[in-house]
Amino acid sequence: MTQQYFKAAIFDLDGVIADTARFHFLAWQSIADDEGFSLPAVVDDRVKGVDRMASLNIVLEYAGRTYSDAEKEALAAQKNERYVKLIAGLTPADLLPGAQLLLDRLRVDGIGIGLASASRNALPVLKALGIFEHFNTIADANYISHPKPHPEIFLTAADGLGVSPADCLGFEDAEAGITAIKAAGMTAVGVGSAELLREADDIVSDLTAFDYDRYFRTLI
Ligand code: BG6
Ligand code: MG
Repeated sequence: MTQQYFKAAIFDLDGVIADTARFHFLAWQSIADDEGFSLPAVVDDRVKGVDRMASLNIVLEYAGRTYSDAEKEALAAQKNERYVKLIAGLTPADLLPGAQLLLDRLRVDGIGIGLASASRNALPVLKALGIFEHFNTIADANYISHPKPHPEIFLTAADGLGVSPADCLGFEDAEAGITAIKAAGMTAVGVGSAELLREADDIVSDLTAFDYDRYFRTLI
C-alpha cells in the first residue's frame, strides 16, 4: 500500500494543544461545591469535547435535584466566569508537550492547520498560548450549529482550509471528538487514553509521541 500524505491537520484545543481541560473540570467542581454536591473524577472525561450547556447537564446528573432553565443559564454563566478567571494567566508554558514543535513543523512544511474546538473561549486561549498565527482557519462553537459528535465543526475547518476531508488528519482527546472526525470522513489521531479513544485510527499518549513522517511529507 502506498503511504498517504495528508494535506491538513485539524486540532481540537482543550486537552490536545492546551493544558486547559483541568480548568474546565475545576470550574465545574466549584459550581458543584456551591450547590452542595460532589463530582466523581469520571466527569472529567465525560465533559471533554462536550459544549457548555451539555456539560452542565452532565454535571447536574449528580445534583440530586432538577434545575429550571433559568437556573441552568445562570450556572452555565457562572461556570464560564470561573473558567475565564482560571485561564487568565495562561502563557505558552501551558501548551501541552509536543504541540509547539508539531505546529512549527506543519507550518514549515506548508500543511494547512485548522482548529475545531467546542469552546467559545478558543480565540483568547490561542492568543494567550502564542499560537494564534499558526492557524489558517478556526472553527469554534460560535460558528457551528451541531456540537461534536456531529462532524460539522471538522467539516467547517476543512472547508476553511480548502482541503477535502479525506486529506485531513484530525487530533482529539475526547470520545465525542473522535466520533466527529470519523463521521467527517477524516483520519483520527486520539491523544490520551487508548481505552477511551477506541474509535481512533492511531493513538498517542501526547503529541511528542506523534509519528510525523508517517502522515506528512517533510520539505527539508
Ligand atoms: C471543550 C471542552 O473544548 O469546550 C469541554 O473539552 C467544554 O469540556 C467545551 O465544555 C465548551 O467550552 P466553553 O469554553 O465554551 O465553555
Ligand atoms: Mg478536547
